[in-house]
Amino acid sequence: MSTKVLIIGACGQIGTELTTALRNTYGFSNVIASDIRKSESDVFNQGTFELLDARDKDAIKACVEKHKITDVYLMAALLSATAEKNPDFAWDLNMNSLFHVLNLAKEKVIQKVFWPSSIAVFGENSPKKNTPQHTIMEPSTVYGISKLSGERWCEYYHKNYGVDVRSIRYPGIISWKANPGGGTTDYAVEIFHEAVQKGSYTCFLRDDTSLPMMFMDDAVRATINIMKAEPESVKVRSSYNIAAISFTPAELATAIQQIIPEFAIAYEPDSRQKIADTWPESIDDSTATADWNWSHEFDMKTIVSEMISNLQRVLV
Ligand code: SER
Repeated sequence: MSTKVLIIGACGQIGTELTTALRNTYGFSNVIASDIRKSESDVFNQGTFELLDARDKDAIKACVEKHKITDVYLMAALLSATAEKNPDFAWDLNMNSLFHVLNLAKEKVIQKVFWPSSIAVFGENSPKKNTPQHTIMEPSTVYGISKLSGERWCEYYHKNYGVDVRSIRYPGIISWKANPGGGTTDYAVEIFHEAVQKGSYTCFLRDDTSLPMMFMDDAVRATINIMKAEPESVKVRSSYNIAAISFTPAELATAIQQIIPEFAIAYEPDSRQKIADTWPESIDDSTATADWNWSHEFDMKTIVSEMISNLQRVLV
């Protein structure tokens, strides 16, 4: 059977670029984008778009049947900072959407599921540096708890019902096409917008907060590659650590100053600092490398120059 994709939550930061990449991979007519509301991005005027609430199983099923979908990418979620403000809704959205999709795969209505997890599954008792694939978890945020629970359910559905579900733990994702919303790592995108538009930025994390980060192109490539991998090489059916680089806000500011020398940064840590303090500083992704040949391409210097040159083009 040929691949026909549905992206749920397509209008978010990752979904927007994943939509384009999946169309390039599987063909325009084989990729359906959906979200609870349509964003202004041109991406969604170019191919089929459906309004879809990720919490509505009947609506997802109807959409899947209408378009003869084989693979679902479930990108809808409330991120870490927003979820802390609305725990009930975050739990409802993050967990029930996953159950709906896993159950459609269990019922063999769809063949394959991609569901993203996050570095937020780790907690203050996890090793901070080179955090291993298998280690103490104990997340302390609603978002992290929902992602860790989701990972356990993915593995459970794979082992008990043969569901082909694949997942990676995204670090903070840096991109210029669509903005992130409600995450703790969002500063690493905001900083570029403000550097280009205002020449200064007030960071909501402390200067020395090191977090794992990745450029969007690497994140999208990882997503498509794990879905294309042979089923037997995807040995971890909870979620894979993947990594690229780690830096602090101060280190990022210095890298930006190489290109925009007058750029100034100030620090006013808010409630997101408490979240960041429980997350890893860096991630060991050797299991993903061994199992499906993962490696990142974009380093700090390339990310900074890509971000600044593209934002200067589209914003200024
Ligand atoms: N970028 C996410 C967040 O900050 C982590 O997965 O919430």
